[in-house]
Amino acid sequence: MNKRKLRSAAWFGPNDFHGFLHRGWMKNQGWPADMFEGKPVIGICNTWSELTPCNAHFRELAEWVKKGVLEAGGFPVEFPVMSLGEANMRPTAMLFRNLASMDVEESIRANPIDGVVLLMGCDKTTPALLMGAASCDLPTIGLSGGPMLSGKYNGQDIGSGTGLWQMSDDVRAGKMSEEDFRAAESCMNRSKGHCMTMGTASTMACMTEALGMSLPGNAAIPAVDARRATLAQLTGRRAVEMVVADLRMSKVLSRSSFENAIRVNAAIGGSTNAVIHLIAIARRAGIALELKDWDNIGSTLPCLVNLQPSGKYLMEDFYYAGGLPAVLKELIEAGFLDGAAQTVNGKTIGENVAKAPVWNRQVIFPHQAPFKKNAGIAVVVGNLAPDGAVIKPSAATPELMKHRGRAVVFENIEDFEARIDDPNLEIDASSVMVLKYCGPKGYPGMPEVGFMRLPAKLLRQGVKDMVRISDARMSGTSYGTVVLHVAPEAAIGGPLALVQTGDMISLDVAARQLILEVSDADLAERRKKWVALPKPERGYARLYVDHVLQANEGADLDFLVGSSGAEIPRESH
Ligand code: FES
Repeated sequence: MNKRKLRSAAWFGPNDFHGFLHRGWMKNQGWPADMFEGKPVIGICNTWSELTPCNAHFRELAEWVKKGVLEAGGFPVEFPVMSLGEANMRPTAMLFRNLASMDVEESIRANPIDGVVLLMGCDKTTPALLMGAASCDLPTIGLSGGPMLSGKYNGQDIGSGTGLWQMSDDVRAGKMSEEDFRAAESCMNRSKGHCMTMGTASTMACMTEALGMSLPGNAAIPAVDARRATLAQLTGRRAVEMVVADLRMSKVLSRSSFENAIRVNAAIGGSTNAVIHLIAIARRAGIALELKDWDNIGSTLPCLVNLQPSGKYLMEDFYYAGGLPAVLKELIEAGFLDGAAQTVNGKTIGENVAKAPVWNRQVIFPHQAPFKKNAGIAVVVGNLAPDGAVIKPSAATPELMKHRGRAVVFENIEDFEARIDDPNLEIDASSVMVLKYCGPKGYPGMPEVGFMRLPAKLLRQGVKDMVRISDARMSGTSYGTVVLHVAPEAAIGGPLALVQTGDMISLDVAARQLILEVSDADLAERRKKWVALPKPERGYARLYVDHVLQANEGADLDFLVGSSGAEIPRESH
């Protein structure tokens, strides 16, 4: 390796004041002099945190990456970035996705790093790291932390989130005791790793692999399986090789790889959150990706995997059945994917999965006889969502995909919490539940409240699903006929802000329509009385609200779209 070709040589190469400063201070960790003689420096970007339980095993994982880097002749340096724990952060981890991406981007650019390994797990850590790294464009490889083992409760498998929603409804419907509910907590979460349904974390791990940004097999190996450590070691080795080959992120990511990822999202019954995250990542990489692409490219694709929340099984089953490589092979054989798309191991995605086996057809279905047809994300538009809204048909009730009903409006999430279980609430199974002010600017941070639990009195009647509409997001582990990401959002005066209880709303997913049956003249009158919410007064929340884009644009901050590359910052000592 010629050290003059390495970015890190600008720090560690010169035999002067600055070279002494950069090498000397690093030597206080015990590194010998030859580590600074032209070895590729691999930054291991770690989202470890005990407040992000899904990523709490990442320091151990990083040690395996380091072994691989050292074996391949590199110099591993682990560094922390802001960790985003979905289960704990308030008001929502999504508020901080863009902040974490800034941390990633600036940490990489400011330091003597030649290549990067991204350690990603819990929902928002994956898009935040890919976004930040894309804005730097060094040789970069992703490594997911892996899903938890399947939850086991009373002899049954239970899935992260999905099982919680179900049991929570059972408690409210009087079918489960609070004691049993509490006992189920440790049964659901019984190993290291992230949510083991096809929620957002597993979806984004699949998206990482589908984009070509990880080694094959990354998405599904359970966190505690020894093969996760092996993959980490191989990832470390490969990061060094990528620096030598100058295989930058921009050489892996392409319009084609994003189209592949959209199609894969349909085939795995993936989370609606992937829509926002992939648009944001693409725009960091300078690739135009729009909301309508999701419908145009992916909506008619079949779902091939029988995983919760759209189906029955869990990520552990998915891994044993063949994992994502088996799904990619099915999709390539069906002519749905561009098998020539580049991946981080230097091979095409088609080459990587050419021999991928399927071990269990109950979990991974053949493309000729899929688990569900036309399962990709659908985008509906109309006077209620001029810039679009999304629905996940694979998780919805087929009979509700065309529905006209009376709106029951909740002005914000507090109003929803206060009234949803009020026995006097005028609502029935045909009503359309509407929630406002939960979009990117609205809450702020676009929380995952679009699922809107059903009224307890209707649950007791046996109602299982209703049409729900909001500018919020929904957990990838949720299910139901839920229209999300309505744009423009209520907080900027989108038509959603003008809906009143009693209005009729018509949803027709096949026609891609979402119509508020109120005349333009009446809406104009209502608009005159509309008052904007006050903004947060200070801090990051104020910066966020001033600059966040709408959901259909990826909800990135407007000044973060694009890349500044990895130009070496000026020396200031
Ligand atoms: Fe971290 Fe679900 S809470 S992945």
